[in-house]
Amino acid sequence: MKFIPASIGLAAVAAVILAQGPGHHGMGPHGRMMGTLPAEMASGANPLTKAKVDLGRMLFYDPRLSKDRDVSCNSCHDLANYGVDGKPVSTGHTGQKGNRNSPTVYHAAGHIAQFWDGRAADVEEQAKGPVLNPVEMAMASEKEVTEALRGIPGYAAPFRAAFPGEAQPVTFDNMAKAIGAFERKLVTPARWDRFLAGDHAAITEFERLGHHEFMHGGCATCHNGAFVGGRAFQKLGAEKPWPVETDLGRYGLTKLASDRMVFKVPSLRNVEKTGPYFHDGGVATLEEAVRLMAKHQLNTTLVPEQEKMIVAWLKTLTGEIPRDYIKAPKLP
Ligand code: HEC
Ligand code: HEC
Repeated sequence: MKFIPASIGLAAVAAVILAQGPGHHGMGPHGRMMGTLPAEMASGANPLTKAKVDLGRMLFYDPRLSKDRDVSCNSCHDLANYGVDGKPVSTGHTGQKGNRNSPTVYHAAGHIAQFWDGRAADVEEQAKGPVLNPVEMAMASEKEVTEALRGIPGYAAPFRAAFPGEAQPVTFDNMAKAIGAFERKLVTPARWDRFLAGDHAAITEFERLGHHEFMHGGCATCHNGAFVGGRAFQKLGAEKPWPVETDLGRYGLTKLASDRMVFKVPSLRNVEKTGPYFHDGGVATLEEAVRLMAKHQLNTTLVPEQEKMIVAWLKTLTGEIPRDYIKAPKLP
């Protein structure tokens, strides 16, 4: 079932929803389709140890991984600000602007792939990108990064602890593994998770109706799983062409006609706090983002009350920032 046509109005919407009665709670089919937030996003290839995570935290905050020693991962993915910089597109090396919005690093490790177009397989591979990207951290080569790290004597011990038994642990690959390990524990449990765990008072009736709309209106065909997204690639403008077609998404990688305007479906966790929205940061408010999604992905118009309900539910996905875990460490 898709959204009920706007002409029927809210009373009918509410009637339909209420007719389905209670029992539409987290542990039912909806809860399963959404899934429970894991405590960490483990990886067989990069086992998480405290030493590795602690090293990754330092590297995440370290501006010496950039050419002018002024940009760190945290510059564009401010962990205290839900992992984003709040700008349409980010500013990196010498104030240059990129062409995409910086997505949050919270829960990113749990996605099927990294970047808006999925061009990196996992957070470990992803972490190598920005360091060498000329408009981000702008280091010239892997060698330059390795030399910079080896030039900081205080890094020798934490790298050794994180990668025991390696003759020369201070490498570009290990830098990326440590950063990835740190990112694998960036999760923000929210009111929605308390609801899924059985605390029905954790969200209001209005918010619950918003979840119902989200599920039954068709949003959840793309945005689902524990992260409410991050599990698939989909066409932006699936039903009605998207107004801006400058960035063609996965087409840029694959050159397949079927990949034109195909992007990773973003996670909607913390979406209240991660605007501006979409791959180009072109939409300022969550209300407008939801309206555009209904129109272009589902070919429908939401009545104002439906929109309000959905936005209200999305806000239950705003989680708690793990203040202790993300505390900026003393750099070596
Ligand atoms: C100058 C700003 C900037 C800096 C510095 C930066 N990033 Fe990003 N990051 C971005 C932008 C913009 C994107 C999206 C690019 C794209 O999709 O093509 C991104 C994407 C990502 C993603 C993918 C998230 C997802 O949902 O797909 C991760 C993870 C990430 N960055 C981690 C890092 C790490 C780790 C560092 C430091 C090594 C870093 N970033 C440095 C701007 C930045
Ligand atoms: C056919 C798949 C599909 C459907 C259905 C869909 N979305 Fe999306 N959604 C996407 C994709 C893909 C993006 C990312 C597009 C981009 O920016 O490149 C997205 C982005 C978003 C964003 C912006 C997130 C951000 O961080 O920038 C929001 C909010 C959103 N969707 C909410 C919804 C809501 C609410 C509905 C139902 C009304 C919905 N979506 C239906 C695929 C879908």
